[in-house]
Parts: sequence; C-alpha cells; structure tokens
Amino acid sequence: MRFSAWSLLLTVASSVTAVKVNPLPAPRSIEWGSSGPKHVSGHLVLRTSKDTRDHLLTEGWNRAWETIVKLRWVPAATEAPISSFQPFPSATPSATPSGHVHEKRAPTPSLHFVDVVVKDLQADLQHGVDESYTLVVDTASSSVVIKAPTVWGALHAFTTFQQLVIDDGHGGLILEQPVRIKDAPLYPYRGIMLDTGRNFITLGKIREQLDGMALSKLNVLHWHLEDSQSWPIQIDAYPEMTRDAYSPREVYSHADMRHVVRYARARGVRVIPEIDMPSHSSSGWKQVNPEIVACADAWWSNDVWELHTGVEPNPGQLDIIYPGTYEVVRNVYEELSTIFPDNWFHVGGDEIQPNCFNFSRHVTDWFAEDPSRTYNDLVQHWVDKAVPIFRSAREDRRLIMWEDVAVGTESAPDVPKDIVMQSWNKGLENIDKLTADGYNVIVSSSEFLYLDCGHGGFVTNDPRYNVMTNPDEKIPSLNYGGDGGSWCAPYKTWQRIYDYDFTANLTDAQKKRVVGATAPLWAEQVDDVTVSSKFWPRAAALGELVWSGNRDDKGRKRTTQLTQRILNFREYLLANGVQAAPLVPKYCLQHPHACDLYYNQTAIE
Ligand SMILES: *[C@@H]1O[C@H](CO)[C@@H](O)[C@H](O)[C@H]1NC(C)=O
Ligand SMILES: *[C@@H]1O[C@H](CO)[C@@H](O)[C@H](O)[C@H]1NC(C)=O
Ligand SMILES: *[C@@H]1O[C@H](CO)[C@@H](O)[C@H](O)[C@H]1NC(C)=O
Repeated sequence: MRFSAWSLLLTVASSVTAVKVNPLPAPRSIEWGSSGPKHVSGHLVLRTSKDTRDHLLTEGWNRAWETIVKLRWVPAATEAPISSFQPFPSATPSATPSGHVHEKRAPTPSLHFVDVVVKDLQADLQHGVDESYTLVVDTASSSVVIKAPTVWGALHAFTTFQQLVIDDGHGGLILEQPVRIKDAPLYPYRGIMLDTGRNFITLGKIREQLDGMALSKLNVLHWHLEDSQSWPIQIDAYPEMTRDAYSPREVYSHADMRHVVRYARARGVRVIPEIDMPSHSSSGWKQVNPEIVACADAWWSNDVWELHTGVEPNPGQLDIIYPGTYEVVRNVYEELSTIFPDNWFHVGGDEIQPNCFNFSRHVTDWFAEDPSRTYNDLVQHWVDKAVPIFRSAREDRRLIMWEDVAVGTESAPDVPKDIVMQSWNKGLENIDKLTADGYNVIVSSSEFLYLDCGHGGFVTNDPRYNVMTNPDEKIPSLNYGGDGGSWCAPYKTWQRIYDYDFTANLTDAQKKRVVGATAPLWAEQVDDVTVSSKFWPRAAALGELVWSGNRDDKGRKRTTQLTQRILNFREYLLANGVQAAPLVPKYCLQHPHACDLYYNQTAIE
C-alpha cells in the first residue's frame, strides 16, 4: 500500500484498467492498494440500520448512484509522472514508468452494497456540525463501508465515492481498491457568494451552483439577495418592495427561497441570506417610505469624487437617525428569518458613504445638535439600534457583517466581538487585525477570492477607454486602481486562489478565529449567462483549499498536483450540468503537465 494524494495511471493484471482516481477536493487521507479493480454490481444497494433510515441519506445515495450510472465516468487523463517528458535535448530520454507486476490474485467479490452507519441522525445542518466521514472498500468485501458522525458527513462520502467509480470500457463499472479514506474539512465555513441584487439569477441557475458546491464540498451559499439596484424578494409585510424588482418575473417568492434552502440542505449546503444594510440600500426600501432612504435620487458623483454618494451607481443608504427606518428593518428581517433556518444571518455593513447622509435632514440635524459627533458615532448609532433587532429574531442568532463596520474609515468604535467579520480588504493585514481584535473571520480577500474581478469596469460613458494607449497601464488619477481596468483586477485564476495562505503569520489563537472562506461573485456583469462559468471551476480550487488545504503531507504547496485534479473536475462539473469554464487547451488536460510553466514540479513553494 502507498499513500498518495494524487493518482497514478495503473495497469493491472486483469484485462481492464483501473484507475486510482483523483477526487476533488483531495481527501485529508486516502490510502490506495493495488489489488486490481473491483467490479461494481448492476445496482448498489444502500443498507443502513432501520432506525438510522433517513430520507436525506437515501436521496443523497440515489443521486450519487444515478450519477454514476448515467455518466459512466472516465477521467480524461490521470496524473502521469513528469519523467515521461524529456526535459532538454541533451538529457537522456527517461525510461517509461516501470511496468506493473503481474501477480496471480484471488478473484475479488464485486461490490453489491453501500453500508452506511450514521451515529447522530438528528445533528442539524448548522455551523460547526461534524462533516467527517470514513469510506472503506476492502478486497474481500462486497460492501463499501461509510461511517459518519452525521448525515452531512455521509453526503460528502457519497460525492467522493461517485468520483471513484469509473467505466471499465466494456459496459461495466469498476473501482480500484482496496481504498481507505479518512476525511474531514479543515474549516467549518466554506462558501461562495451569489449576488442577485445587481442582476437576477433564476432558480435553475441557483440549483446549478448548489450542484457544483455539493460536488466540491463547499457548504455555505452566502446569498446576497438584494442591493441598491433591485429588490427581488417577496416581503408580505411590504408587498410594494418588489416594485423595484427588475420585473414581476424577477422575484423570489417565499416558496422560491424555501425551495433553494431545501435543495441546498439536501446536499449539505447551508444558505445564509444577506440583506445589505445600511449602505447599498435603495430599491425596495424606498417603496415602503422614501424617508428611510438617504440620497436615493442623488448623482453618485464619481466625476467629483469629493461629492460622491456611492462607490457605484445607484446610491442609497438607510437613514440611520430616522426612527422609522428601524421599524421597516425589523419587519423585513423578521420575515426573512422565518424563511431561512440557518442560525447565521448576514446583515451587510459595508461601504458607508458619508456624503450620502448630507441628503438626510435627520442626519444633518443630528450632526448639528452636537458638533463633536463624527461619522464613526453615526455608524455606532446604527450598530446600537440595529444589532438588538437582529439578535432578537432567535436565541441562537449569530450575525455576520462585512469588516468595514469594524476596520473601515467609517467604522463603529464598539462592535460586539461575537459578530463574525467577513474580510475583503487588504488581504492578510485585515485578517490579522480582526483576529487579533478577537473576531471570528470569514476570509473573502478581494485580491485573491473575488471572482468578478478582471473583466473591466461596467460604468458607461467612461472616457478612460478612449485612450490610444493600453488602458492596462495604471493611471491613478483615472481611478483604474489596478491592471486590467477594474478596481480589483486582475482576474483571479484558480492558482491564485489555491495558493492563498490566508492564515500566514497568525498566532495559533488567531488562526482558530478564522472560520473559513467565501469566494464572492459580485453580479454587475453576471446573470444566468455567465454565472456558472465565472464560479466554476475556480470555486472548486477554494473548495479544496478550505477542505484539505494547499499543502502535501510534507508541508509543500501542492498546486501543481491540483492541476490534473481540477482539469478533470471541470469536465466532471460539465458532465453534471454545471457550465464550468475551460481553463486550458484540451491538450493540457489530455497531456498532464505538458503545459506547466516549469519542468521543476516543486517550483511553487
Ligand atoms: C457633508 O456634510 C459634512 C458635515 O456637515 C460636511 O463636512 C461635508 O463637507 C458635506 N459633504 C458635501 C459633499 O457637501
Ligand atoms: C511573515 O512574516 C515574515 C517575518 O516578518 C515576513 O518576512 C513574511 O513576509 C510574512 N509573510 C507574509 C505572507 O506576510
Ligand atoms: C525546483 O524548485 C525549487 C523551488 O524553487 C528549488 O528549491 C529546487 O532546487 C528546484 N529543483 C531543481 C532540480 O531545479
């Protein structure tokens, strides 16, 4: 037996070729033998003890089995040793990998059963639930044995297993074995962020993202439901809010949102809603009462930056001083809290623009009353008034806010330490700062994890494009802010994402406060047409980073070993109906490592 985080193409004594396939994310520990392939019977029967029968388990297994049978998957090419290339003309051609050992082996029984033992069927899908599992296929056994403390771990075992079984080329299914997997995530919070405020995304496309998430073991859909541009959410307390949906068809009803929650839960994915407040707020709110929104009709004023009311069009912020704001906030929040069962709820808190409040009589009067008041005091007022409302919805409520509320220029001096901070600025610097302050942190550093970056700016009437030189050149006065013409350019490649050591230089105590990471996809230039290709397969690189990390058991970066895994996984996503973008010419998929920048496989340190 040998340990291997990645697989080798292996020819075995029998006439069929079995493959130690390379599931993504790489399990924490996978131990392969090479006893040759085991045949998988025409129908694998799920066996669980009677009292542990559970419909999520059965549905999860049926889904995995149907996928196995429907796809009859064969990875395009598995990992090959780099020595199969001749590095330089002067070098002696290396021998092809040494041949296999032909041994007489006792025939192994086919697989007939999947035996699943779940210890605690009641464990709810909430933050920190045990998602570990073990999966064992022994040579002498006719079962694959899965043990998991919870249903959620067992569901992960299924998505691993469905990647291990492949077509034998003769109408049968096989599995290289014996195989022993012991698996558990490094981080409890592993997410992607979907923005349905800038552009509407249909339920079908949301399900597609959830399918990709389940396969890559991402477990949180952070749903940025609305933004200043549109309000696509049915709110019974204020039906008029959806007048600011893009159209009557671009609305999520309560039933739609519950459907998303159910679909996600069946796949082990939590749905955490975000209502972004008090900034990024205009559509919907202003229909209830224009007085609760400041500066909705202002020019956003990028041209005279000193006057700007928003970082992008259209501006609008909830009026922090007007008491009527909090009644509407409470009713909207409480209604949504009945739809989303997760204990965690995201209440925004990013990018407050002071100038916007100059349009509010309430705020300007408040400042006039006491000239010592600052914008920090104003934001503190929001925290003091709004957080008790957010907490009161349920006893076990945990709030998430964007880090701006604690570390931005317009931050509040005293933000409760039990609020989870989502960090998107200044990479390691802010993660360090927030964890040192005692906050739990979700890593979403824009320099590494923003999937929308690098596609240029979306604002129109933009003379910066009317230059006869390459607009990639930084022109600070023109606010490009980065190569490629968007503020967070360039595009974040899967290697950039996977290489991110987001706990570098933190103390052990600080490291423990990092609960995981989320890759956001802001949707100014995203709708059904592009959503899947922008998320996938890059989100799967994050999936592995937060599931089993980016290093091998010697502590070396294994980005190069992820190459073939993610290239194959992209094909697998496509086969599963997730419209993942191509990463390379197909040649590179079919010729492992032929497209590496360096021959040296440890060039990435
Ligand atoms: C907004 O009001 C503040 C406080 O009165 C003032 O200092 C600032 O100059 C105003 N901003 C604009 C753009 O008028
Ligand atoms: C970690 O700290 C060392 C020593 O101060 C520094 O050289 C290194 O650049 C830091 N690493 C990161 C990723 O910030
Ligand atoms: C490969 O790259 C690593 C990291 O840069 C370096 O330490 C090592 O010496 C290189 N090996 C060869 C054979 O060049």
